[in-house]
Amino acid sequence: MSVLLDVVNLNTSFFTGTSQVRAVDGVSFSVRKGEIFGLVGESGSGKTVTSLSILRLVHPPGKVVKGEIFFEGRDLLQCTDKEMETVRGSRIGMIFQEPMTALNPVFRIGEQIGETIAIHNRDLSRQEVQEKTLMLLKQVGFEEPEKKCLQYPHQLSGGQRQRVLIAIAISCNPSLLIADEPTTALDVATESQIINLLEGLVASYDMSMIFITHNLNIMKKLGHRIGIMYAGRVLEENSVKHFFEKPLHPYSRGLLASVYDLAGSGERLTAIPGSVPKLSELPDGCKFHPRCPHVMPICKTMEPVMKEIGKDQWVRCYLYQS
Ligand SMILES: Nc1ncnc2c1ncn2[C@@H]1O[C@H](COP(=O)(O)OP(=O)(O)OP(=O)(O)O)[C@@H](O)[C@H]1O
Ligand SMILES: [Mg+2]
Repeated sequence: MSVLLDVVNLNTSFFTGTSQVRAVDGVSFSVRKGEIFGLVGESGSGKTVTSLSILRLVHPPGKVVKGEIFFEGRDLLQCTDKEMETVRGSRIGMIFQEPMTALNPVFRIGEQIGETIAIHNRDLSRQEVQEKTLMLLKQVGFEEPEKKCLQYPHQLSGGQRQRVLIAIAISCNPSLLIADEPTTALDVATESQIINLLEGLVASYDMSMIFITHNLNIMKKLGHRIGIMYAGRVLEENSVKHFFEKPLHPYSRGLLASVYDLAGSGERLTAIPGSVPKLSELPDGCKFHPRCPHVMPICKTMEPVMKEIGKDQWVRCYLYQS
């Protein structure tokens, strides 16, 4: 499968006073055409800042400091603001983390979807925009799209609002969809409906998707490949199959052990000792070393680099670097 998005050594920081918070620090990963890539990590690990950096939506005091983001033959970080406007919405669709605030409360659903379609397809007539709006509402699972068009966001349930946001995100046939924890605010039954919907749309629209979550169970069902983030870094990039069979990084093993009973012992699930470090107080060397059961002297002084240890299997750990 060919590569659609290639993020190389991305660094994004927030500058406050004299301090620089490195929210994303040397992140690299790639997304193939047609695949679902899971970006997984605990709260504050840099998942949202990574996706906002891809879309060039990091605002001051935040700034992309360096890196390359290759997408459809160009480096997005080198594009003009005008070129980025075209990329956003028409090549890359985004479902933002806060579904409640993403819709405008004073406009009807149909108007909000129609506006996005019209902005990116200026040659369409009002009639054509309306037809496309109804088709999208049907595709995201509304049985009476004409009625939905006339409703306001507050008249919809959380799951319905998320469907509308998905309709907006795919309205211009993007080749990449970024979904930032799209189901966190939903109950379990609605969550599984939304995941099935996204899975179906990725296949029928021939898109790729970056699915951001801290829920490994969702990734096991949905994802093709996975990137594990910790303290602004990707520590492991792997296929979902290999990751769940044999996770590489000690942090990945800890994450999995805290969710699944790996040894089948039936005992209490193991939690990773310690807690996620503050970005302003990161240790030298590997950022995970204070919590790592395999820590070696070198881990405390020098940070390991990402290394490919098998086909499409990357890990940032000295256990794999001889
Ligand atoms: N506007 C901001 N100003 C200052 N620092 C910020 C800002 N936004 C993010 N950060 C920093 O970047 C880090 C990463 O944030 P990010 O939102 O990417 O985390 P996340 O992995 O998406 O977490 P969550 O799972 O909670 O959504 C945060 O811990 C915070 O220190
Ligand atoms: Mg986030």
